[in-house]
Amino acid sequence: MKYLTPIATGLLALAASFQGSAADGVKVEHLGTNNTLVRVKPDARYILLPVEESIDDATVNLLLDGKPEKTFYVRLARNKVDYYVPVDISGYKGKDILLNVVTAHNRSSVREASEDACWENISLTDSFDTTNTEKFRPSYHHTPLYGWMNDPNGMFYKDGVWHLYYQYNPYGSKWQNMTWGHSTSKDLINWEHHPNAIEPDGLGSIFSGSCVVDTNNSAGFGEDEVIALYTSAGVNQMQSLGHSSDNGETFSIYPGNPILTLDSEARDPNMFWNEETKEWNLLLAHALDHEMLIFTSPDLKTWTLQSAFGKGLGAQDGVWECPDLLEINIPGTDKKKWVLVCNLNPGGIFGGSATQYFVGDFDGKTFKVDTLADGTVPTKWMDHGKDHYATVSWSGAPDGRKVVIGWMSNWQYAAEVPTKQFRSANTLPRDLSLFLANDGQYYLKTLPSPEVDALRGKKFLNVKGKGIGTKASNFKLPVENNGICEIDLSLNAETAKDVLITLSNAKGEKVVMTFNPSESKFSFDRTQSGITDFSKDFPAVVWAPTLRDSKEQNLRIFIDTSSIEVFDSEGHFVLTNLVFPNEPYSQISLSSKGGKARLNSMEIYNIKTSNN
Ligand code: FRU
Repeated sequence: MKYLTPIATGLLALAASFQGSAADGVKVEHLGTNNTLVRVKPDARYILLPVEESIDDATVNLLLDGKPEKTFYVRLARNKVDYYVPVDISGYKGKDILLNVVTAHNRSSVREASEDACWENISLTDSFDTTNTEKFRPSYHHTPLYGWMNDPNGMFYKDGVWHLYYQYNPYGSKWQNMTWGHSTSKDLINWEHHPNAIEPDGLGSIFSGSCVVDTNNSAGFGEDEVIALYTSAGVNQMQSLGHSSDNGETFSIYPGNPILTLDSEARDPNMFWNEETKEWNLLLAHALDHEMLIFTSPDLKTWTLQSAFGKGLGAQDGVWECPDLLEINIPGTDKKKWVLVCNLNPGGIFGGSATQYFVGDFDGKTFKVDTLADGTVPTKWMDHGKDHYATVSWSGAPDGRKVVIGWMSNWQYAAEVPTKQFRSANTLPRDLSLFLANDGQYYLKTLPSPEVDALRGKKFLNVKGKGIGTKASNFKLPVENNGICEIDLSLNAETAKDVLITLSNAKGEKVVMTFNPSESKFSFDRTQSGITDFSKDFPAVVWAPTLRDSKEQNLRIFIDTSSIEVFDSEGHFVLTNLVFPNEPYSQISLSSKGGKARLNSMEIYNIKTSNN
């Protein structure tokens, strides 16, 4: 008996380890405390995987007929299911599908591991519901249907279609499994979602990059082939090429990848055709060295390093990422300037991530920055809000337009914001040009792209010529559709020191914007805007220089369910900030301090919603 017991117990334990209760078509076998095999019948469209946000990632190796197909990481639920993510298996008909799952749960026994919530909740389905059930999901900003999104990247315009790719995790609402998600639009407002364009491969996950249309077949893949350069992020970062003959829907991965390697961290290749030098140019973020590398190429595959820009210049605190270089007309002249865009994180003007830029000249090899009279280089910010990052432009936008879009979040708290099945939206698209400010410097002029005007629905309010004093003048905001609207207003501060614009709701939550003409400042305070306690970095007061001496201030304010973008109507500044009010702001109040002001006009428009 003594002799038999251990064996008998062992056998029992072994038998128990194979008992996994699972949904129809799913067979679960527990091999050890952190290793489980899941076999599924390949006759459904999706496997639904249950996710618990706070759990560490499990590694899922998907095998098809015994051969490795792909590996991805999912926070497989242990205690409770927060939401589900679909794994598309529609292409695997007739094959044996095996998920070899390695969890990171540190279970003490196989039995304990077998009790994790995920196993009995893995199921097969032919449809995955992407209907919006979340209060904070934007109504008219681009978001992924589900899952995590960061940088917009690889954007190009071709045949009337705006292509937008983005850093995407299809398997959860936190950063992981970087893939190029893909959306397209004919009007920059309504977005159609497409299958993922480029997925992680043996060189690593697919970080940010850019696309161009190779009109003259300089890369040899064919005329009008769409060429993508992106960072393959494995243990190290290297640059890879993909090309598409179906307008960016699917990409063939170039067998000669990686096409560019360095012995230090470099990423986010951004290429463009230089009409003056008749060569391709490429900017690459030399992230930890806080500089942008500039390359040339005749064929998009072989790149020659020409120079590096930026060491010691501008904001230097964080890593330099996501570069862009844009040639922009100087208004009223036939001259041009070049604007070098440099996203950095952290070290942004109000903490965390932000987009700085440099104005200067470029000869195809070297970027020379404009300096102030004393020889120093000013630090300029494209947006003075907390939630504007990784902003880059569309390649080939029509009529020479410089159209950009940014990620509307901040690395400080992007993974903590109070949404669940999706995380992050992009900003409204913006058109860039230049203006000469009162300090004698050229700055970027940023306006909502003209396409945004089509969002205006019925006029909800129209006020003209109203005196503003210390006692607030209150006006209703449209609260239907989660309070989404555009406010177009024109102010004159007259004798006032400050003019305050307050958005508020009945719960006492508010956003306070202040125009201070004597200091040429416009500020935005979201410290009491609603839910703010998910991160110490979220409550903030930010401000922008108005770059003019004037008591007049005209604004266009775009409110979506969880964001506010404030544009100076002449493009001198933008403030993009997330807000999470428990109920929509229902009132706008205007008041002044230190004197009297005037509201020249205020129009409030409902927004025609779309389902992005
Ligand atoms: C910027 C960034 C890029 C990188 C990508 C990874 O937000 O860090 O430098 O390519 O995100 O998702």
